Amino acid sequence: MHVENITKAGFLNVEIDPSLDIFAEIGKLKKEKNAVILAHYYQEPDIQDVADYIGDSLGLAQKAANTNADIIVFAGVHFMAETAKILNPHKKVLLPDLRAGCSLSDSCPPPLFKVFKEMHPDHLVISYINCSAGIKALSDIICTSSNAQQIVESLPKEQKIIFAPDKNLGGYINKMTGRNMLLWNGACMVHEIFSTEKIIKLKNRHPDAKVIAHPECEEPVLQLADFIGSTTQLLKYTETNKSNSFIVATEAGILHKMRLNTPAKTFIAAPPDNSCACNDCPHMKLNTLEKLYICMKYEQPEIIMDEEIRIASKIPIDRMLQLSHQLGLIG
Ligand code: 13P
Ligand code: SF4
Repeated sequence: MHVENITKAGFLNVEIDPSLDIFAEIGKLKKEKNAVILAHYYQEPDIQDVADYIGDSLGLAQKAANTNADIIVFAGVHFMAETAKILNPHKKVLLPDLRAGCSLSDSCPPPLFKVFKEMHPDHLVISYINCSAGIKALSDIICTSSNAQQIVESLPKEQKIIFAPDKNLGGYINKMTGRNMLLWNGACMVHEIFSTEKIIKLKNRHPDAKVIAHPECEEPVLQLADFIGSTTQLLKYTETNKSNSFIVATEAGILHKMRLNTPAKTFIAAPPDNSCACNDCPHMKLNTLEKLYICMKYEQPEIIMDEEIRIASKIPIDRMLQLSHQLGLIG
């Protein structure tokens, strides 16, 4: 199939022999091609099980920056694979389905953000990693939900800051740091779906359960939380906290790792504000084990970037990695 067709479809549409042991084949391809599979916690359980590393956005960026593999297979969404490519221009970066986007990233188009930035020339721009390379290129520092608070606190109190694209994470950081950052009005469709009413009802039925939430959730949900953190921080909390049950307000994929790490504990997905029983990210879930196998076998679809944008977007990512080292947040 031609590259243009893959770009249109998002993935290579190749039939797989149903008798094939895909897990074993992926293992073979990893060795043959010196490939590494980096996966986010929101990926389906099968993908998490074949991954070499599963992590949050900061951990994944750090792994991507340090890998010796020739091919990076990124099981996550486009901005994550793009970040890996920004850091590794000479490596092949594959994404099982190119259509795996992100509603939060989409809520901040570069041309509009450029105008917003020009309206506030005395502001420094901190952007959450969930944004396109075009937004990263317009930013001074990138952050993730693991390091946003510390990065903001490392700047002088009087420094004026624009925070993009997530108004919920930005609002939470404003509250935690006492800053008054100017917020871009973006949000994640998955983290804005939770129902406070249903979480309160659940909490009444499970009074000992701790409510844990990702800071991309809206303020009323965060107010109900006993603990707020990035996906890795939420996972660690469930391992170290004495409680035996947790109501989890983030994408449901993380429950797989939580259940694997502490099988005796109970994990309940926080209910969304609609009749659907799940809170899956439709973008993350476009990647499947079959698409992962096909993309490794044919080395398509691949992330291709404009070199000028890549160079400009690398500067604020490097600053984030450097600051995270200095602040002791990564090894
Ligand atoms: P983290 O895993 O960095 O907490 O990010 C969550 C998320 O929404 C990724 O898209
Ligand atoms: Fe984007 Fe939200 Fe999906 Fe994360 S969960 S990839 S922020 S849409």
